[in-house]
Formats: sequence, C-alpha cells, structure tokens
Amino acid sequence: MFLLNKLITKIYDDFDFIEIIKDIIENENVKQMKNFRQHYNTNCFDHCFVVSYYCYIYCKKFHLDYTSCARAAMLHDLFLYDWRKKENGRKGFHAFTHPKTAYENASKFFNLNDKEADIILKHMWPVTVFLPKYKESYVLTIIDKYCTLNESYHRIFK
Ligand SMILES: [Fe+2]
Ligand SMILES: [Fe+2]
Repeated sequence: MFLLNKLITKIYDDFDFIEIIKDIIENENVKQMKNFRQHYNTNCFDHCFVVSYYCYIYCKKFHLDYTSCARAAMLHDLFLYDWRKKENGRKGFHAFTHPKTAYENASKFFNLNDKEADIILKHMWPVTVFLPKYKESYVLTIIDKYCTLNESYHRIFK
C-alpha cells in the first residue's frame, strides 16, 4: 500500500499526463470509484489511475495514441458497485459484464471516440471473446492484468 501511494504521488507530478485525464479525474462520478475496492486494498480509482499512467508511458514510447489509451484506461473500470456483492438486481458474472457497464457509465459523462470505446469494451479480452480492434486496446488488456497482479502481489507477499 505504501509503495502504491508513493507511485501515485509521483504520477501526480507528471503534469503532461495529468493534463490529459484532468477532466476525468475531477469528475464527481469518476471520483466515486474511490469508494469501491478493486483488488485487495486498492480502490477502483487508484487502480485505473495507475493503469492509465502505464498505458500513457507505453503508448508514448511506441508512438501509439497515448491520449485515447490513457483516457480510456482511466475509465475502464467505472462500474461503480461492489463487485463482491450481488446488489440492486445485478445479473451475470462481473468479469464478463463490467466492461459494458463501465462503457455505458463513461459515455454518459464523456464523449468517447471509437478507439476509447473499443479499449473499454474489450479490456477483459481474452476472458471476453471479442477481439480488440486497436493496438491501444491490447495495450490496456496487458497493462490491466499486470497491475492486477502487482496489486495482488503486494497484498500477498508484503
Ligand atoms: Fe476491468
Ligand atoms: Fe482493471
């Protein structure tokens, strides 16, 4: 947890990155992600924030669309419920359904381009079968899984 907080503080110092997702992280609905646990002690907001930053760094390095990837990554888990509980008539398995829920929520508050929509909707690939359409979508599927393992590793082994 200490390491994650340190990393988050460092990321806030990268003004070029923060500028790209500023309107998203200042949105009150997006801030609600802080109230929901994602993996172990990491909340959904911090998880998306770190994933978004790694997507930004990777895409920038390899000359991909880092703006769309960073913005979509910040929104990719905007499902706004406790996935450990079956509440409010929620149906289906969270792993399969939450990309669509996150996409629907994100499109209520932001104008998403086609690439951002694909990145959010396909981020659980290959758990969900539909193939990502863009390179940036694959970037998120890999970085999301990497961060999930990292968040879990620090809980289990630290
Ligand atoms: Fe997810
Ligand atoms: Fe995620």
